Amino acid sequence: MSRVLLGVTGGIAAYKACELCRLLVKEGHDVVPLVTPAAERFVTAETFRALARRPPGDDVYLHLTRADLLLVAPCTANTLAKLAHGIADNVLTEAALAHRGPTLVAPAMNPRMWSHPATRANAEALRERGVVLVGPDEGETAEGELGVGRMAEPDEILGAARNVLMGTGPLRGKRVLISAGGTREPLDAVRFVGNRSSGRMGIALAAEARRRGAEVTLLAANLAVPAPAGIELVETPTAADLEREALAHAPEADVVVMAAAVADYRPAEALAAKRPKDTAAWTLELEPTTDVLSVLGERRRDGQLLVGFAAETGAAGLERAREKLSRKGADLFVLNDVSRTDIGFDAYENEVTLLTAAAERPVAKAPKEEVAVAILDEVEAMIGNG
Ligand SMILES: Cc1cc2nc3c(=O)[nH]c(=O)nc-3n(C[C@H](O)[C@H](O)[C@H](O)COP(=O)(O)O)c2cc1C
Repeated sequence: MSRVLLGVTGGIAAYKACELCRLLVKEGHDVVPLVTPAAERFVTAETFRALARRPPGDDVYLHLTRADLLLVAPCTANTLAKLAHGIADNVLTEAALAHRGPTLVAPAMNPRMWSHPATRANAEALRERGVVLVGPDEGETAEGELGVGRMAEPDEILGAARNVLMGTGPLRGKRVLISAGGTREPLDAVRFVGNRSSGRMGIALAAEARRRGAEVTLLAANLAVPAPAGIELVETPTAADLEREALAHAPEADVVVMAAAVADYRPAEALAAKRPKDTAAWTLELEPTTDVLSVLGERRRDGQLLVGFAAETGAAGLERAREKLSRKGADLFVLNDVSRTDIGFDAYENEVTLLTAAAERPVAKAPKEEVAVAILDEVEAMIGNG
């Protein structure tokens, strides 16, 4: 979801950073551990690489690439001083100087080191620069001294990291409703009429919107891959469920993105029990479902941005998508060609065209995460112009 540079420095509390690393990974973050030489006396860089699930030959300059958060926990008096003065003499302090984003530090040290005027001045200098400090807490230190200096607990640091990540994104304060996956319309107790949508595109959009600070609600229709952490998940297995939940959640949403493949037709009658196998043919009658996007288009409030997906096949798809854009009252349509097996349904990549009333923009074939970035860039531009 977000890339987090996790700096670990040479204090006893370094062992607690293992748990913090695990929690960050569990939340879905891409964690890059930066362990100082002094910290390696307490914990090994290898432990953090394993916890962060980093491949052995990871790019050595990864620490200098874009990150959403630099989190130093524990932060020694020494590293706090280096951060305050811009010293770059190890993998962590180099990264800190190159980092252009929010920084969160969890100081941990002996109470006398924490109360020393030099440390006070360094902490104050960092605060003035916008660095967020979490802790230290009061209590007994590892050496048995009482006072303020103990590192905040991993849970508390994780909460602070969440707040910092949410508070800086361009979609901060926006509510985004996204649907993902493909609905399944029951035929009987065990069979259904469904489609091949995995939900990957909607999930990538949800993760990206969340990364940009939005409050995300995901309407999940039979996802084949796990949903990102940190969002509200509402299970909507059938078209009727999705319709009900979309209409219930849409009024509060600033942006609605309907990426799920919702059945256009459902069996007119679903059997309560499993129909036993016999030799007779089974003739089905399918009835149309509600066009949820059109209803959302009719009911949307002022200032709400509505994004639809058009799963079309072949060259005539663009014409049909243009027609849908005007008919369904959406601001933006994302057209993907579902006749190709390398993109679209159940694929890792997508290649789409973004259609608005003003323009049509092709987005080159790329992993769905990157396509989500392009779509949300367009959404942000439209919100900005709106
Ligand atoms: C057993 C032991 C425990 C230490 N615990 C801390 C600590 O909790 N906080 C701190 O600021 N320094 C502590 N130090 C001192 C740091 O390890 C030392 O200042 C080191 O240079 C920090 O380097 P770093 O900031 O690059 O990791 C400790 C040293 C030892 C030997």
